[in-house]
This record gives sequence, C-alpha cells and structure tokens, in this order.
Amino acid sequence: MKFASPQSTLCRRLLTFAAPALIAAATCAAEPVLTIDADKPTHDVSPKFFGLMTEEINHSYDGGIYAELIQNRIFKDDPKAPAHWSVVQRAQSNASIALDESQQINSALTVCLKLDAQGGGGIANDGYWGIPVKPQTTYRASFFAKTDSTSAGALTVSIESNDGATVFAKAQVPKLTHEWQRYNVTLTTRGDAKPSTNNRFVISTTDTGTFWFNLVSLFPPTFNNRPNGNRIDLMQLLGEMQPNFLRLPGGNYVEGDHIDTHFKWKETLGDLAQRPGHPGCWHYRSSDGMGLLEFLEWCEDLKMEPVLAVYAGYSLRGEHVNPGPDLKPYIDEALDEIEYVTGDIRTKWGAQRAKDGHPNPFKLTYVEIGNEDGFDKSGSYEGRYVQFYDAIKAKYPKLQLISTVGGRDSLGKRFTVKQRTPDVLDEHYYRKAVEMEEDAAHYDNYDRNGPKIFVGEWATREGSPTTNLNAALGDAAWLTGMERNSDLVVLQCYAPLFVNVNRGGMQWSGDLIGYDALNSYGSPSYYTQKMFNQYLGDKVVPVKGDNIPTQTWQPPAPKDKPAPPAKELPSLFYVATRDSKTGNLYLKVVNIASTEQALHIEVKGAHVAPQGTAVVLTSARPEDTNSINEPTKIVPVTSKADGLGNSFTRTFAPYSINVLQLQTK
Ligand code: AHR
Repeated sequence: MKFASPQSTLCRRLLTFAAPALIAAATCAAEPVLTIDADKPTHDVSPKFFGLMTEEINHSYDGGIYAELIQNRIFKDDPKAPAHWSVVQRAQSNASIALDESQQINSALTVCLKLDAQGGGGIANDGYWGIPVKPQTTYRASFFAKTDSTSAGALTVSIESNDGATVFAKAQVPKLTHEWQRYNVTLTTRGDAKPSTNNRFVISTTDTGTFWFNLVSLFPPTFNNRPNGNRIDLMQLLGEMQPNFLRLPGGNYVEGDHIDTHFKWKETLGDLAQRPGHPGCWHYRSSDGMGLLEFLEWCEDLKMEPVLAVYAGYSLRGEHVNPGPDLKPYIDEALDEIEYVTGDIRTKWGAQRAKDGHPNPFKLTYVEIGNEDGFDKSGSYEGRYVQFYDAIKAKYPKLQLISTVGGRDSLGKRFTVKQRTPDVLDEHYYRKAVEMEEDAAHYDNYDRNGPKIFVGEWATREGSPTTNLNAALGDAAWLTGMERNSDLVVLQCYAPLFVNVNRGGMQWSGDLIGYDALNSYGSPSYYTQKMFNQYLGDKVVPVKGDNIPTQTWQPPAPKDKPAPPAKELPSLFYVATRDSKTGNLYLKVVNIASTEQALHIEVKGAHVAPQGTAVVLTSARPEDTNSINEPTKIVPVTSKADGLGNSFTRTFAPYSINVLQLQTK
C-alpha cells in the first residue's frame, strides 16, 4: 500500500500514453478527490447485469465449447471431398476413401464415407486442429458402419499420433454386418500419455472389402458428464465469471446468410443422427451438435437464464420476409420455440423437450426479436417487430421483448420502432480503447422514461486473437459507466466470447477467451469482466470526482480533411457499489495513464474499517497480453489493503484496473 501526501504530486508529472492518438500531458490542478456517499444509493444494480453472448463464430461451438472432437462427422462440410478425413494405409494395404451419396441412412445422414480396403486400411480424422490426448482419460467413440465384406469385417478404433507411431488408446469392434448399425466403444489413454494435440482418430481394418461410415463421433469427458456435452475447461472459465444470462444463439448466427440458412432450432433437437447441420454465416458449416436443448442445458449448468434471440425474418445478405402472411410461419416458429423453452409437458413443444430428456421447463424473461435489424435497408423491421410483439405478448404477456434497433448505437442507427414501445433496446459497441474511454459516461444522461437498455454486444477491439491490456483498460472504463447506470442498462454482455487460436480458427479478432484443442486461457478483458462481476454490490452509490486529471486526445483526421480539434479525456475512471447485506463497499478505479496516480478518497455516511482488500490487474505495457503460451501473464492480484478509513489517499499503478473492497458499517 502506498500513500501520497494530501498535496498531490500529480501536477508535476508528465503523463504519457501508449495509444498513438493520446498525445499530451495530463492537465491537473489540485489534488484529485473521490467523495463517496455510502448511505445514499442512487439505485439498485440490475440483478441480471452481467451475462455472456454466444454464437457460432471463431469455432466457438464446433472446435470450441461443444466437446465433439471429430471435424466433419457427417461428411457434409465439403461436397467435393471428405474434408478433414484421410486414408490410412497399413502394411501391404492399398486402401482408398471417397464420399458416397448412395447409402443414405435418413434425411439427415445423406452422405457417408466409403473405405475400399485392399489388404486392410482405414480412415483418419484430424479433429479441430488435432485430437487432444490427455493421460488416463476415457473417450467415447461412436459411429454408424456397415460392410460388404463376407469375412469378419472387424474394426480397430484408436487415437494415435499423426505418424501412427504411437497408439494412445484403442478398442475393437469384432464384426460389422451388411446393414447400417451404430457402434459405441470407449478408449482410455495410459497414465503416462503426455498431453499433446498432434494426433488423429482412426478406424481401421485388416480385412479386404468395402466399408461405409457415418456420424463418426468422439467425445472426451464433458462438464457434468453430460452426453453430447461441453468442454470442461471452458465451462470452468465461464463459471468463474458468475454470469447471469446467456444471449443465444447469436449474433449474426441466428440470422444466417440467407433466409433458408437461419438458425432453424427444430433441426437441432434430439438424436444427433437426426441433425443435418447447416451452413453457418462465418464461413464454415455448423454441425448443430450445439442445439437448442444443449444451449439451455449450458444455461442450467452455469445457473444462467437464456436471453433467447428468435429469427425475425431478416438475414445477413439483405433478404427479408415481408410483414403479413409471409411472416406468419416465422412467428409460429418463434412461439413454438418459446413453448419449447418454457412450456410444461402438456404443451406440444414442452412434451418434445421432455422427450428430448428435459421435462422441467426453463425460466425465460427476455426474448430478442432478431439481431442488428438496423442493417435491414428495406425498412421492414417496424412491421416485423409489431407482428412478433403482438403475437408473443398475446400468448406470453410477461415476457420482456427486446428490439434490435433504436437507441444511439455505434452503427449510428437512430430508427426506433414507433408503433410499439419495446421493453428493451439492444445496442452494440465495438471500438478502440480511447473511444470507449471517451464515451464512458455514455449512459449518464440517457432518457430514463424510455425502454431499458441491453448492451448485447460490446468490446474494445485491440489485440488478436484475444484482447490486450489496453483493451481491458478501455473495457474497464466503459464498464464503470454501465455499472453506474445499471438501473437503465439492465443486461450487458461482451462479444465475441470465444476464439479457437489455431490458424484458420478465427473470423473475428479481439475475443475474450482463447483456446486450442488442449488448453484455454482468459484475456485481460476476461479478467476485467470477472473482477467487475465478482466485486459488485446490489446498490450503486454516488461517487463525486474533483480535480480528476485529464489527458489530451487527438482524434484521427477523416480522409482528406483537417484534423478535428483535440479533446481532453479523463485518465481515471471510477464507480462504487455497496452490498446491503454485508456492508462491503466496492470502489473500482481504472488508471489508463502511464504513471501511477494518487487519489484522495472520502467516504461519507458509513464507518470504514482500516483494513480491506485490493485487487489489481496490471502489466508494464498496454500491449501486454495473455496467450496460449503465456496464459496467465496478466491476472488479478489480490492483497490486503491497510491504511483505509473514511479519509485516505491511495496510489493506483500505471495501466491498472483496481477494485478496493472496503468494509463499512
Ligand atoms: O460479434 C460478432 C458479430 O458482430 C455479431 O455476430 C453481430 O451481431 C455483430 O455485428
């Protein structure tokens, strides 16, 4: 703990800033002071304030949280070739593989993989950038197969190194038949297997004959041992954030590129053998293994409530469905979906959910009508929203309906639905750190008489694949503003949540959590989220800042235009909440400057104990970051804080995000 004299030294310091546009010295006068009125809360913190946003982007599900290890398991990724599959030759064998559409199993499993084995041979899958091997681990493999061989038709199923030299685990299927059958085996690695990813999954034979395969699947242990479940490490990282809700299933992913490729939830239910998958909008096909029930069970596992985005008749490439009779099937699709989530088992879709394995309904408060419909240039959203709104409110009057346009978002859209007042507006912000910092007070003067706000996607996009410390500083400044206004901003979630860091895994840079097949890590932005949510009271208390130092920011000049005037921005951001049960007061302070800054803190209306807790996230340089090779370079450090009280001065490290937990009575 460091003390500064009441007469601040700040005015003698030259503050320099890492971002090129931040050019000038801090301007300061007298000592910076924060005055906190601990007994005069301005409002309650929204109980659902912190949540998660998810969609199939950056291999978030396939190759991400959905634990399936086989890529292209139903052979539809590429109609011309068996992508991610290769032929395996054994000694003396002469085998070949090809796609085969003549051996359909059902309307979902229409393409299979044919293996012509001469003297043996096999098929191998390279997984999502490798098959992860861990010691003493049991994997569950399953597949459909048949053969024309009149001899044994026995198969060996194995996980082995890419060169075939090391077999980590294997199991036998003694005999195939001439009819399609599903086979299940378990594979357990030895205790001395070193963790690795340069491995493949192989099904091979020593026979001669033709073999056909479909829906080839391999699962490692999953979170809560759910069949068709999620990756344990990623669920743990999310669980540590203690999120309240999951916005699903997008994002652009709910819309699809075209009307016909939107997220059709009915095709994502039940047995995997009934799921055809569909083309995703982020340049790869989705297996739909992460189906509607899997989303809901993900929510259940982490005690989150779904925020359900329903397809609203607009798709990314600009196609839309006109309001009126043409839209009716999509309204019905949404009503059925809500019934699947919330209906009891006497309803048609509640019964289907029970049949799928989950008799209990899920709690649902918010339904979002579409995604980013401000991009719909036809102007059809007004009519589409009204039709959805009326139909949903008629059947579910208590549901809160979210409009995807309105407010003042970073896309510059100001169009608002006029004929119905949305309960909530979804606003999205993707920006640079300095833009977040400049606009941190965005919600301070927002209209309190209109709809509530859902900041359904936001991020400071600096750093790749995951964000760096400078981004986390921008995030933290922005979060202080949202937290202070959490009477209005009832929900907020960062996006995108995930990125598979392998080459080709990413479509959108600046993500929260990175991983490969074996390991995962949180970015500095992840730890910022975690800190802000872990140390959050239930009441916002006012904090008055005096003499807060500023820095000069020169906004970039538009093309062929003179530079706009420079702006003065604060270099410290802050917010406080109090827990009415424990009395804990949480003061968050963000110092974006390159030098330490001292703040005098006065707490009124409560007695503050001399000891508390300090949590600090910082690093030497704003471009510092975590990565798959340095996963914990920047993590919050928790320590005891002394010298606290109703009046004290504390120094905050350069480039730091801080929580001070004060015990108050
Ligand atoms: O988060 C990435 C994308 O950004 C989302 O899919 C979309 O809603 C937004 O434009």
